[in-house]
Amino acid sequence: MRPSSSIILTLNIILVFTSWANAQPIQKFYQCINLNSELSIPFSTAFSSPDNASFSSILQSSAQNLRCLVPSVPKPQLIFTPLVENHVQAAVICAKELNIHLRVRSGGHDYEGLSYISETEQPFIILDLSKLRSVTVDIQDSSAWAQAGATVGELYYRISQKSKTHGFPAGLCTSLGIGGHITGGAYGTMMRKYGLGADNVIDARIVDASGRVLDRESMGEDLFWAIRGGGGASFGIITAWKVRLVPVPATVTVFTVPKTLEQNGTNILYKWQQIADKIDEDLFIRVIIQVVNQKTGQKTVQTNYNALFLGRTDRLLNVMENNFPELGLTKKDCIEMSWIESVLYIAGYPSKTPPEILLQGKSLFKNYFKAKSDFVRRPVPEIGLDGLWKRLLEEDSPLMILNPYGGMMSKISESEIPFPHRKGVIYKIQYLTLWNDDKPESAAKHMDWIRRLYNYMAVYVSMLPREAYVNYRDLDLGMNKNGSSFIEASLWGMKYFKDNFNRLVRVKTKVDPDNFFRHEQSIPILPLMHERTETSMVH
Ligand SMILES: Cc1cc2nc3c(=O)[nH]c(=O)nc-3n(C[C@H](O)[C@H](O)[C@H](O)COP(=O)(O)OP(=O)(O)OC[C@H]3O[C@@H](n4cnc5c(N)ncnc54)[C@H](O)[C@@H]3O)c2cc1C
Ligand SMILES: *[C@@H]1O[C@H](CO)[C@@H](O)[C@H](O)[C@H]1NC(C)=O
Ligand SMILES: *[C@@H]1O[C@H](CO)[C@@H](O)[C@H](O)[C@H]1NC(C)=O
Ligand SMILES: *[C@@H]1O[C@H](CO)[C@@H](O)[C@H](O)[C@H]1NC(C)=O
Repeated sequence: MRPSSSIILTLNIILVFTSWANAQPIQKFYQCINLNSELSIPFSTAFSSPDNASFSSILQSSAQNLRCLVPSVPKPQLIFTPLVENHVQAAVICAKELNIHLRVRSGGHDYEGLSYISETEQPFIILDLSKLRSVTVDIQDSSAWAQAGATVGELYYRISQKSKTHGFPAGLCTSLGIGGHITGGAYGTMMRKYGLGADNVIDARIVDASGRVLDRESMGEDLFWAIRGGGGASFGIITAWKVRLVPVPATVTVFTVPKTLEQNGTNILYKWQQIADKIDEDLFIRVIIQVVNQKTGQKTVQTNYNALFLGRTDRLLNVMENNFPELGLTKKDCIEMSWIESVLYIAGYPSKTPPEILLQGKSLFKNYFKAKSDFVRRPVPEIGLDGLWKRLLEEDSPLMILNPYGGMMSKISESEIPFPHRKGVIYKIQYLTLWNDDKPESAAKHMDWIRRLYNYMAVYVSMLPREAYVNYRDLDLGMNKNGSSFIEASLWGMKYFKDNFNRLVRVKTKVDPDNFFRHEQSIPILPLMHERTETSMVH
């Protein structure tokens, strides 16, 4: 996986155009790829159009949000599944020549389905990277190359096969595609000790808007900065990431302790907010909040303290006794295991599931869902929590996940990479509502509920900007529209990136001036010279 000199593709398509003048764009795309690829063996299987019986299953394969697959949502005209990196180059060159809109998918976990649907531009093609999934681990060098279509679970598994004392600090959900995941930051249980996945990237391979393959050296530090957190599908197509491995102890400890409101849940959560970002960096305690039925039949709110400790039980009990005795953690709540087993535990696999399951790259569950995020910089008072419980109890299947910050997260500057939510953040909130049918009324009802919840929380969370996590894409925050300006985009751009948005716009304008890589929330370009003076504030 060493960078090779970029492959020059023969651009003889211009000649071919004339003879196919009447062919459909999609057919032309197929022919063009064929001409521009080094590999043309049983090549047709790399293409699936709506006429193929396999089309729906390929489309659905990794799509995580069922809300984005309902019949009313526009479907692609073709799914192209590259078998080698050169196919990705050919796809970019051909789509550009033929003016066909491309969506790129690695693990399919985008919250708004942006990797496999396009509400705004038709026709479109999906470039599905699921067959580019090799992972090469080099323990001597403490590094690994992972191709974009590999899941984080596969990366974790491959590392664990080579060493019990190395890991990588990225997402908790093991079916995430490494390709899209790292483009937005990539947090997980080791973020307080080691930062984000994107903080631990040391090189990358990217196909740019001209179809060239670039590595860190040839892309330059501006673009290398932008792709580590500036959001997916704005700058090019990542074909592989090179990551730095981090040390993990041979034995780690996990626990999950539930507390309902009746078990003093509100008080305990209030206390958690005081210590979550300050406690030992080896300890990550997230809180998963659900509505459950009590024995009496009454609904209540349950807060679940779900944790990974990079050490053994005895030291963990000490840390908890000194900092968070209110939770009442005991030795029997604690389970010692290897790091790779903790990955499965945190992801929600039943105990004793063999880690080889990670090689299947499948997700554990799929739902119809809508989500939003917030960052909390001062504790939410108990009265605020009470109002929150009231709202959760009104919804069918709400879910909230609170992720502690602090530690390494507050030591990295806001501009080191585009991900800006650093010092001063106590925790991040993710709000979700899940449902299980494709009726438009259901979607409307649940979306309305979560929007009202979001309004309610406004006074308790970060302001100016109200920060949001770009990997939890939320089109409610705003969308690129034909003719909408850079100023309009900065409304949502500031939420995801704070002042880094301005630098992202400059990098985008430089590397993709034709805005080939675009979607509802891609980084906009500064389109016209006169607009450049108007918006000179960005410099
Ligand atoms: C169940 C679930 C659990 C999650 N858990 C976590 C978590 O623990 N931590 C966390 O940080 N996030 C988490 N996320 C959010 C996740 O990080 C993002 O959804 C991420 O974008 C997923 O990457 P993907 O490749 O799977 O998704 P995709 O849908 O394939 O891609 C996401 C975006 O990136 C673009 N993209 C995809 N591949 C590439 C590429 N190779 N080059 C350039 N652009 C590309 C897509 O076009 C799209 O815009 C979770 C999401 C879900 C649904
Ligand atoms: C789709 O159909 C075409 C034409 O029959 C065939 O050549 C191709 O292999 C099919 N693709 C898949 C993924 O089955
Ligand atoms: C609930 O928590 C508060 C604050 O931590 C504490 O003072 C109180 O004694 C607790 N009550 C019960 C019933 O545990
Ligand atoms: C975008 O708007 C311009 C003028 O405002 C128009 O000429 C163009 O056709 C529009 N493009 C699309 C794709 O709607």
